[in-house]
Amino acid sequence: MRFIDLRSDTATRPTPGMREAIARAEVGDEQKREDPTVNELEARVAALVGQEEAVFLPTATMANQIALRLLSEPGDVLLADEWSHLFINELGGPAVHSGLVMQPLVSTAGRFSADQVREAVWDRRDTHRPISRLVAIENTNNSSGGRVWPVDEIAAVAEACQELGLGLHLDGARLMNAAVAGGVGADEIGRHFDTVTLCLSKGLGCPLGALVAGSEERMSKARRLKHLFGGAMRQAGIVAAAGIYALDNNVALLADDHARARRLAEGWQAAGLPVDLEQVETNFVQLDVEPLGLAKGTVMATLKDAGVGLSSTVHPTRLRALTHLDVSDEDIDAAIERAPQALAARV
Ligand SMILES: Cc1ncc(COP(=O)(O)O)c(C=O)c1O
Repeated sequence: MRFIDLRSDTATRPTPGMREAIARAEVGDEQKREDPTVNELEARVAALVGQEEAVFLPTATMANQIALRLLSEPGDVLLADEWSHLFINELGGPAVHSGLVMQPLVSTAGRFSADQVREAVWDRRDTHRPISRLVAIENTNNSSGGRVWPVDEIAAVAEACQELGLGLHLDGARLMNAAVAGGVGADEIGRHFDTVTLCLSKGLGCPLGALVAGSEERMSKARRLKHLFGGAMRQAGIVAAAGIYALDNNVALLADDHARARRLAEGWQAAGLPVDLEQVETNFVQLDVEPLGLAKGTVMATLKDAGVGLSSTVHPTRLRALTHLDVSDEDIDAAIERAPQALAARV
């Protein structure tokens, strides 16, 4: 029985076409900016996300952490969604690497409003208060189930940040999913931000790699921080080639991942599983185990035995299934059949 791995879109393995691109890559010493493939990827991504320059990095976590460091001073306050990856999945990195105070904003579907930002900032004239310095938005938002920020809401937060003198970072690990789902260019989203993270190893299907983008001035500082954080590499074109291949070939396939997630959600819902179709906006499907009267661990183990991998979320009763390049239409058919059958035997 084929195991259908819906635990995360990080599960993808490079396809034969991507492996060929990797094998053919021209390389050089990227620390010296002599790797032509890295240089090409950086230029492509900067234009793609509407920024002047981009810096190639091993992971999106490093991209986020470098961005925060660029935009702040120790003791400053970072405002972000309470369940953001930055706050709950980066091991306190904002505090460790940048000395930031993390101030969570209550969010709905991973989103908060410009007014919430206005209300949350400290008065800078008050010498007892830390300085509210920057805001981060996560789009798509992981914890809420791959939900998308409408561009007008991003623009409103960006306007508030300008008014208040706050920096604005986009954790766009899944920015391309947001752009495809929203029917807008990634640059129309990215241009509102001071810094943008883009990850290559999720829906885009690369084995690793991410970029941070911003102004030329900020990115020259980012290159120093990259070295400081231990992320300056050598013949990294071998990996950047996968990124270029992904931009050329895999962005267009994200719409298929989204359609498969919707079909999975509809199939499970039709079979009586507790899935809220309203919440399926990109490549995530959330399954609420509460109405089943089963614990998350029991459901995950039951589905694993049936050959379907799901993973947990921060929500006490929600599991998630993510579609990605290694999940085919046949896999979705099989998951639609197997999961309700396996769970019916448990309840
Ligand atoms: C929204 C978001 N940001 C950042 C990251 C970090 O990516 P990486 O694990 O490649 O560092 C992830 C990983 O899942 C993520 O979902």
